[in-house]
Amino acid sequence: HPVNVAIVGATGAVGETMLKILAEREFPIGQLHLLASERSAGDKVEFGARQVVVQDLAAFDPAGIDIALFSAGGSVSKEYAPKFAAAGAVVIDNSSAFRQDDDVPLVVAEVNPEAMKQRPRGIVANPNCSTMQMLVALAPIHREAGIERINVATYQSVSGTGRKALEELGRQTAGMLNFQDPKPEVYPVQIAFNVIPHGGDFCDNGYTTEEMKLVWETRKILGDESIQVNATVVRVPVFYGHSEAVHIETREKIGAARVRELLQSAPGVEVVDEREGGGYPTPVTHASGNDPVYVGRIRDDISHPRGVSLWVVADNIRKGAALNAVQLAELVLAERNA
Ligand code: A2P
Repeated sequence: HPVNVAIVGATGAVGETMLKILAEREFPIGQLHLLASERSAGDKVEFGARQVVVQDLAAFDPAGIDIALFSAGGSVSKEYAPKFAAAGAVVIDNSSAFRQDDDVPLVVAEVNPEAMKQRPRGIVANPNCSTMQMLVALAPIHREAGIERINVATYQSVSGTGRKALEELGRQTAGMLNFQDPKPEVYPVQIAFNVIPHGGDFCDNGYTTEEMKLVWETRKILGDESIQVNATVVRVPVFYGHSEAVHIETREKIGAARVRELLQSAPGVEVVDEREGGGYPTPVTHASGNDPVYVGRIRDDISHPRGVSLWVVADNIRKGAALNAVQLAELVLAERNA
């Protein structure tokens, strides 16, 4: 049975990709409603053979919507997600608005799909992009050897910040090659030809909110409050694809060889691990525009008897946001068809 789908934030970097992925995966769509702010209302978007007109979210009646994919920021989700849920839709929310709520499941399709079933508010949260790709790679290791501690440094692309950040990196890069001074607007300092150790807002403990998401989202998704996570989030001048240097310590010794073997058959993972130039994934050569979470540089940590190091790369807009949201929508579809 075709389902009626709404995309809230349809004109954004993630919303557009949601639409593309729904088409690629031939999601059985009945009615399709594309919603954004009144700024984009009236714009036309192609979807297969259809031309869909973007509507103003504030003026939209959600009655009859079966599944609503939200990616328009936390404040939009807080205000409108409960209204869509009250009208009968299952809301899959990409913002951080509900992720910490006990009565809202936080789900990575390959890791904890069973958590989808308990959604008393009709809302399911899509995890943060960095947590998403890290856990697709780490969940199989955790199940076998128990992860005690994770040390992670991220190298995050600008697309995670939204369309304005993509434009800022392009504008600053072009400008600087023409001897113009960069004007930071989206980021606090120049992003072109630079790296910025700052994502989100600063917390009292000196970490940033983007770093703390890696801590508590990991615990909630893996269902293990004892996992220790130490994160440093860094924004780099890459358009699409987040990379992560991940160092884990397990309860039982596992070793790089077994980790490689586990990941070779793990859902959603592609191992790229030849010990030579180019034998590892990068955002540009592998992740950008593709679905898998790529893992390379798998090696035993010479500084710790139960440590393994890995390099994890994925398209933050696809697996990190839009793809996982569509996978969750497919799980809802499977329930309806069961
Ligand atoms: P619009 O294009 O009309 O501003 P991104 O994360 O790439 O910046 O995209 C944000 C998305 O969220 C866009 O589709 C944007 O629509 C939408 N959006 C932002 N604020 C609102 C709002 N107040 N109401 C509805 N949609 C919004």
